[in-house]
Amino acid sequence: MIIAIDGPAASGKGTLARRLAAHYRLPHLDTGLLYRATALALMEAGLPLDDVVHAVEAARGLALTEYAETDLRGHAMGEAASQVAAMPEVRAELVRLQRDFAARPGGAVLDGRDIGSVICPQADVKIFVTAAPEVRASRRVREMMERGEKPDPAMVLADIVRRDARDAGRSSAPLVKAGDAVDLDTSALDVEAAFRAALAIVEARRT
Ligand code: CDP
Repeated sequence: MIIAIDGPAASGKGTLARRLAAHYRLPHLDTGLLYRATALALMEAGLPLDDVVHAVEAARGLALTEYAETDLRGHAMGEAASQVAAMPEVRAELVRLQRDFAARPGGAVLDGRDIGSVICPQADVKIFVTAAPEVRASRRVREMMERGEKPDPAMVLADIVRRDARDAGRSSAPLVKAGDAVDLDTSALDVEAAFRAALAIVEARRT
């Protein structure tokens, strides 16, 4: 079974994907990490984030590059990843890796922006996770504080709104709900309630 989970920044898709993967004993790929790692490789080499040639090279070499997840998770890296992810050449370079992961025997859970629409249009279950921008911003602020950062809530909200616009407005694989995806608005749901709602969606599609 392939489960595709897409949605905007801080919608809770990563947490849901992890929980579903554990529940069904499936491997999980957080595809955002691929774009984050590509951006970090450019930054470490002192290159601009719109350097297509080197970005494609970095994306191609990802299997060889190991980054600590903590270096990739930060809020600023999400912004950098979004810039790199807007380049069609970078996206094209990362398609095979993601499709190979999805083709594992037994299936997989993948989360991102274009899993249901581009990477795995044949996924058995597609969930489009959303939440109000203010809710997403306050979740992100909490996460950042847990990491010891001191975020400015107004700036975090502005970043999220800007990133949504870039991700949804880009020409290559924009953030979009696939026609056969099920909406899951987590604005009023805690982690446990969101997981139960997602589980119900998967079970309904499976039978
Ligand atoms: O949860 P959050 O949006 O902060 O992070 P993420 O899912 O790791 O995504 C970071 C950025 O990577 C997004 O803003 C997208 O621009 C890009 N991305 C993408 O374009 N396609 C994917 N499948 C996953 C991430």
